[in-house]
Amino acid sequence: LSGVITLDPGYKNSGACKSEITFLDGELGILRYRGYSIEDLAEKSHFLEVSYLLIFGNLPSAETLEQFENDIRRFTLVSEEMKIIIDGFPRTAHPMGVLSALTSALTAFHPKSVDVNNEKDMYDAICKTIAKFLVIATWTYRKSMGYPLNYYDNTIGYVENFMSLMFKLPTGPYAVNPVIVDALDKLFILHADHEQNCSTSTVRMVGSSHAGLFASISSGVSALWGPLHGGANQAVLEMLEEIHASGGDADKYLAKAKDKDDPFRLMGFGHRVYKNFDPRAKIIKKAADDVLATLGVNDPILEIAKKLEAAALEDEYFKSRNLYPNVDFYSGIIYRALGIPTDMFTVLFAIGRLPGWIAQWKEMRENKEPIGRPRQVYTGYPLRDYVK
Ligand code: SDX
Repeated sequence: LSGVITLDPGYKNSGACKSEITFLDGELGILRYRGYSIEDLAEKSHFLEVSYLLIFGNLPSAETLEQFENDIRRFTLVSEEMKIIIDGFPRTAHPMGVLSALTSALTAFHPKSVDVNNEKDMYDAICKTIAKFLVIATWTYRKSMGYPLNYYDNTIGYVENFMSLMFKLPTGPYAVNPVIVDALDKLFILHADHEQNCSTSTVRMVGSSHAGLFASISSGVSALWGPLHGGANQAVLEMLEEIHASGGDADKYLAKAKDKDDPFRLMGFGHRVYKNFDPRAKIIKKAADDVLATLGVNDPILEIAKKLEAAALEDEYFKSRNLYPNVDFYSGIIYRALGIPTDMFTVLFAIGRLPGWIAQWKEMRENKEPIGRPRQVYTGYPLRDYVK
């Protein structure tokens, strides 16, 4: 091997790229998008405005934002043939697997490859992706329920459309609860980007071969699905429900999480970068209290989550490893209060993360990053003769 190869499993100590998009400080629990604090954006901004900020680098003027929203509306119809594809899946298929397949299938209906150097091409591809991804994401739920697929309503907002696409009946209007829209808008903002996490690194890696935008986003959906990553928000609720069903004994599950011989991990806890509170978890925990109180939902699962968090934060094993609640620990409790089924939680993570994936893919291509191709240390057989 020319030169020395340093192994770094999981890239715990490797930087893959330079980026101007998101800054996070794991020691201080700081997260900023293009220099704006997540606290400010979650409080004062809206999801499509934050999407524009991440992708194009600055907050849009009111006129620019309105133009962006109108340009997204140009692409909210999804080819009817896509329904034939989704019909091929069993209702029991996990929504993330269906979403990854449908996202890649969009390439078949929009084959023009994205020329990042052609500003109009790139802009249209971005608007198309944001528009169509939301529709096909909700189709995965409608399919799992055996319900007819809904169409995007260009007379209401993007986040309102998520609820309408998910739950609107074929006849009559759908009245969206503004409390729910506010909660989802905040959650989508909090999930929008997170520098070089597993799924974003996957999108950059796939895009580095100059594979198309839809194919690259599809690979990000697949990476996000894993329970160690975005799939954790579903795993947290399943864990909390199991604790609730077994009498609410948090200590038993803490002991399991600490037992090296037990594969169980405390889902929603720990983070590769944050060795302090995940700033998103703090905001989401407060939002969970506010949303459930406003909706009049009294969910025992929330109390179990708080009990589990308090016990873990006092526990030497977790303290010594700097294990704190992460973005996935409380988000599912809000989704559940909004009537979202558990196996759709990671799909909501993907909807929130989409602008981050797009922004990072665009930056990687504009920076003309080389194709990703790490080396290895070979530990297999030396040369041996073929003798039969
Ligand atoms: C996300 O990267 C991102 O930014 C991701 C994300 C984003 O926005 O994109 O923030 C979203 O994926 C959040 C993380 C969601 N995943 C989970 O909640 C799953 C549970 N968490 C763990 O699997 C784990 O904490 C990871 C995967 C999140 C991080 O794993 P690391 O950085 O590889 O840490 P590690 O596995 O090396 O753990 C270090 C030690 C080990 O113990 P020792 O070998 O030192 O004795 O901490 C222990 C681990 O066993 N540990 C846990 C634990 N997490 C780590 N023990 C029990 N429960 C846990 N949750």
